[in-house]
Amino acid sequence: MSTFQAPKGTYDLTPPRSATFLAVREAISAPLRDSGYGYIETPGFENVELFARGVGESTDIVTKEMYTLTTKGGDQLALRPEGTASVLRAALEANLHKAGNLPVKLWYSGSYYRYERPQAGRYRHFSQVGAEAIGTEDPALDAELIILADQAYRALGLRQFRILLNSLGDKECRPVYREALQTFLRDLDLDEETRRRIEINPLRVLDDKRADVQKQLTDAPKLRDYLCDACKAYHEEVRALITAAGVAFEDDEKLVRGLDYYTRTTFEFVHDGLGSQSAVGGGGRYDGLSEMIGGPELPSVGWALGVDRTVLALEAEGVELDLPAVTSVYAVPLGEEARRVLFGVVTELRRAGIAADFAFGGRGLKGAMKSANRSGARYTLVAGERDLAEGVVQLKDMESGEQTAVPLTEAAAELAKRLG
Ligand code: HAM
Repeated sequence: MSTFQAPKGTYDLTPPRSATFLAVREAISAPLRDSGYGYIETPGFENVELFARGVGESTDIVTKEMYTLTTKGGDQLALRPEGTASVLRAALEANLHKAGNLPVKLWYSGSYYRYERPQAGRYRHFSQVGAEAIGTEDPALDAELIILADQAYRALGLRQFRILLNSLGDKECRPVYREALQTFLRDLDLDEETRRRIEINPLRVLDDKRADVQKQLTDAPKLRDYLCDACKAYHEEVRALITAAGVAFEDDEKLVRGLDYYTRTTFEFVHDGLGSQSAVGGGGRYDGLSEMIGGPELPSVGWALGVDRTVLALEAEGVELDLPAVTSVYAVPLGEEARRVLFGVVTELRRAGIAADFAFGGRGLKGAMKSANRSGARYTLVAGERDLAEGVVQLKDMESGEQTAVPLTEAAAELAKRLG
C-alpha cells in the first residue's frame, strides 16, 4: 500500500464495482436522452458568487459546505456543490434560451463537492446525474421529469423507493406564509442556533429532526393553507398528470429541501433501505433562480439523482444489474510465434467490433486460462507451435467446454459468426 489514501469522505471507484456506476449513469440518462434532453457539461468550479446567490446565503451548502479557494490571480472560486446554478449560468451565457425553442432541456452527469460530515451514503465528493428544463412554466414539464426519474429507477430494478411531493408556493404566497411561520416559531422554546434559523430560513426549522422540536411544531401554520389559487391549481395539475401516468407518490408538506431557489413543485426520491441518508434524488421548480443570478425571467424545473446512493439502494435491495461481459474473446498464445500471430487476430477482432483481450506477459497455459475465465469471455483462442505448423488455432467455447481447431485465416470470421 502507498503512503497515501483517498481524502476523508471520498472513495475510489475500481473494477468491478465501477461498472455498476457506469451502468447507473447510463440508466438514469437514457430516458432523458429519449425525451429531448441534450447533454451539457460545465466546469467543476465556478465563481463562488454564483452559488452564494443561486443556492442561497442561508443554506448549509453555502455557509458550511462549500470548498472555496482563491486562485493565484485573486479569483474567488468554489468547487461546485450542485449542478443547477451552473447549468442555468451556462445556458444563459450561451443564449440557449434565445434560440426560440423553450424549454431548453438539458441533462448532465458529474462530480460534486460538499464539505459534509462523512457517513454511510454521505460523501465529500459524490456524483449526480441531473436534468434541467429551462424557460417554461407548465405542470406537464414538472410531471415529465418526475415520471422520467421513476422510469429510470424502475428500469434499474429498484422497487423500494418512494416519491415525496410538495409545493413551496411562489413569490406571492410564500412570503405571507414565511411571516406567519416566523411569528409562530418565535414563541417556541428553541436553542440559539434554531432561533437564528427562524430569521434566516424559517422553513428549514420544520425539517428539524429532534423529537422535542417536532413536538412543538404540531400546530405550526401549514404552507398548504397559504398557497395562492394559482399555486394550488398548478400543483393539482402536476399531481393529476403523474397519477394518470401510474406513478405513485406521497404528499409531504414537510418537504422543504436544502436549497433556497425552489418555488412551487418540490420532490424527493427516498429509499427505505439506506438509513439516515435516504434521499437518493431530489428536485423541483426554481422560477426565480435566473433573475437571482442576473438573467431574465425563466421559470424552470429539474432534478438530480445521486449516483452513489442509487448504487447503495441497488445493493440494499439485492438487485444485480445484468452487466454484459466486457470481453467476448480471450487469446492465449503458447510461445513467441503464437504471440505474434494471436496478437494479430485480437487486433483484427477488435477492429471488427468484437471485444477481445490477450494473455500478456508470456504466462503459462494454466495461469492464462485462469485469466480467460475471469474475463468472462465466451470464447478463448489458444495456439501453440504445433497448431501454427498446421495453420490452425484452437477455439474453445467456455460455456460448453467444446474445443475445435479452426483454420487461422478463418478464426476471426468464425468468431464473428458465432457471436452473432
Ligand atoms: P440535492 O438534494 O442537494 O439537490 O442533491 C441531489 C442528490 O444528490 C441527493 O438526493 C443525493 O442522492 C445526492 N447527494 C447530495 N449530497 C450528497 C453527499 N454529500 N453524498 C452523497 N450523495 C449526495 C441538488 O443538488 C439540486 N441541484 C437538484 C435539482 C436539480 N433541483 C433542481 N434541479
